[in-house]
Amino acid sequence: MCGIVGYIGSKNAYPILIKGLQRLEYRGYDSSGVALYQHDKINVFKKKGKVSELENFCTEEETYTNVGIAHTRWATHGEPNDINAHPHQSMNGTFTIIHNGIIENYEKLKNDLAAKGFTFYGQTDSEVLANLIEYMYNEGEHVNAELAVRMALSRVVGAYGLVVMCKNEPEQLIAARKSSPLAIGIGDGEYYLASDATPMIEYTKSVVYLNDKDVAIITKNSFTLKTVDNDAAITPEVQQLELSVGELEKNGYDHFMLKEIFEQPKTITDTLRGRIDPATKEVFLGGLTEVMPRILDAQRVVIIACGTSWHAALIGEYLIEEYAQIPVEVEYASEYRYRKPIIRENDVVIAISQSGETADTLAAIGLAKEKGALVLGICNVVGSSVARETHAGIYTHAGVEIGVASTKAFTAQVTVLTLIALHLARKHQTINNERYFSIIDDLMCIPGKVESILLKHLAIKTIAEKYSEASNALYLGRGYLFPVALEGALKLKEISYIHAEGYAAGEMKHGPIALIDSNLPVVVVAAKDRYYEKVVSNIQEVKARKGNIIAVITEGDNALRNMVADIMEIPACDEVVTPLLAVIPLQLFAYYVALARGCDVDQPRNLAKSVTVE
Ligand code: M6R
Repeated sequence: MCGIVGYIGSKNAYPILIKGLQRLEYRGYDSSGVALYQHDKINVFKKKGKVSELENFCTEEETYTNVGIAHTRWATHGEPNDINAHPHQSMNGTFTIIHNGIIENYEKLKNDLAAKGFTFYGQTDSEVLANLIEYMYNEGEHVNAELAVRMALSRVVGAYGLVVMCKNEPEQLIAARKSSPLAIGIGDGEYYLASDATPMIEYTKSVVYLNDKDVAIITKNSFTLKTVDNDAAITPEVQQLELSVGELEKNGYDHFMLKEIFEQPKTITDTLRGRIDPATKEVFLGGLTEVMPRILDAQRVVIIACGTSWHAALIGEYLIEEYAQIPVEVEYASEYRYRKPIIRENDVVIAISQSGETADTLAAIGLAKEKGALVLGICNVVGSSVARETHAGIYTHAGVEIGVASTKAFTAQVTVLTLIALHLARKHQTINNERYFSIIDDLMCIPGKVESILLKHLAIKTIAEKYSEASNALYLGRGYLFPVALEGALKLKEISYIHAEGYAAGEMKHGPIALIDSNLPVVVVAAKDRYYEKVVSNIQEVKARKGNIIAVITEGDNALRNMVADIMEIPACDEVVTPLLAVIPLQLFAYYVALARGCDVDQPRNLAKSVTVE
C-alpha cells in the first residue's frame, strides 16, 4: 500500500527520495510524488502511474534540495490521478504532507473546515488533514508547526503514518504514527524516514520505529520524540537493522517472485535453524518459552490471519488438532475483529502475518488482548507491529519478501506451525516417539526435496504455457492438501487474473462440479496420503465430465500419471509435511501462467504487498 520516504541532511535529497520510492514499489501503488524545499519554497511534483513517470516528469525541473518528502499512493479516497496523488498541501500552502492510512472522520472534518472557508482541490482524506493542521496553526497565538500537528492529530479518528513540512519552519520534518508503520533512520547529521526499512538500508542500520501516537520532530542535527497528547520528550529506542541491500535485489532472476520461490530451500532451512536440537531432535521455540505454561493450559487455540497467511493457518489447525489435540479455530482477521467472537482468558490466539502490518490482523490482535487472551505472533518482518503488539511469538526468518504474491513466507509459516504442533504434542504427550521422530526427520529433509522440485521448473513452465489462455480454473485437495489447493488458486488469480477457485475435493459434488467441461483446467493436489483413493475418485468424476486435469502427484505414481492430462511431481514424504512440497509446483505454475499472459508478476494490478488499511 502507500509508501513514505523522507530525508533531511546535507546530501541531495531528490535521488534518495526517488530510489526510496523505487524500493517501495513492491508494496503496490498507483501514483507518486515528491515535495522539495527549495529557495524558501516547497515545490511539489506528482504524477499518476509508476515512479519512472514521476522521474520523467521532473527531468526538466531543478530538483536539488537537502530536505524533501516523497510518497507512493494506493488509492482509497478518490480515484488514482495526478491531483489526488501525494504530497498534499493545505489551502494556503503552509503545510505539505504525505500520509498513509485512512482518516475515518474526514467527512465531518472537511465539512467543518469548509464552513470556516477552506477549499479543497481533490477527494482525499489526506488533503483534509493538511488543512486541519493549517487551521490549528492559524487558530492559536503561539502555535508552532509541531503543536499544530499534535492538535490536529488529537481530532483525528483513524490511522496515519504521516510526515509534515511547514513552509515557515522549512528545515524540519514532523512525523507521526498511528496504526501505520513509520521508521526513522539515523545517519551522521542526517535522518531518513520511511514506511519500512527498505528505502534507508543502504545509508544506515540504526532505526527507530515509531510507536502509536508518537510524534517525531526532526532537523538535520536533532531528533525529538513526543506523543500526540504529551509535550514531554521521550527517549527513542534505537534498533539495528539486519537487512542487507542484496536482499532487495533480484540477483539475476527476472522477478522477485521467482527469486523468492527459488529461495525456499534456504528459507525453510533458516526457519528451522536452531529450532530442532540435532542430538535429541526436540523442538526448541525460544520466543515462546516464557509463555509456555499458559500455552499448555489453553483450552482452545484461535488462529487469525488474512490471505496466504490464513491458508497457512488452516494447515496449522489440522496439525495442532491432530497431534496436540487442542481444539483450534481459524478466523479471517477481517471477520473476527467485528463479529463479537467469544474470547476467553484461557484462549491462546495466534496471529499470522508476513508483513506484520496487516490492519485487520492488528485490529483482531487488539481485540483478543482486550479480552485477556494470550496473543502470539508468527511473523516475518522483524520489529513489525504484529511483533510488537503480541505477547510473544516466533519469527519465520524467511527474509524480505518483495513479490506481492506471497511464496516463501507461506512455507516458512507452515514450517513454524509444524514445529509448534509437534512441540505441543510432545509436551501434552499426545504423540508417540515413533511418529514424532518420523515427522521431524521428514521435516528436516524438506529443503532438499524442495530443491529437487525446483530443478523441474521448465517442465512446469511448459504445462503453464499450455493453460495460459484459460479463463477459469478449479483447484482441489483434501486434508492437509486442501489449504494448498486454496493457496494455489489464490496464487493464480492474483498474478494472472484468471478466475480460480480452491475447493475441498469432497465438496466438489456439492456445486463446483457443475462448472466442469472440456474448457476448465482442474488442478488436483493428489499426493499419496490417507485421502489418496478418495482424491482419485474425484479425478475420475472430473474426467467423466471431460475436465482437463493437471495433477500434483507423488513421484513414481504411474497410475495417476496415465490417468490425467498433465502432472507435476513432488518427492514422497510424510503427509503432514506434504503441503511444504505440494505448494511449490503451484507457485511455479501460477508464475509461468502470469508470465505467458504478460502480467506484471511482482506488482499485480490493484494489489498491495502489505494491506495497512481496511
Ligand atoms: O502480511 P500478511 O501475511 O498479513 O498479508 C496477508 C495477505 O494480505 C497476503 O497473504 C495476501 O493475500 C498475499 N497477496 C497473498 O499472496
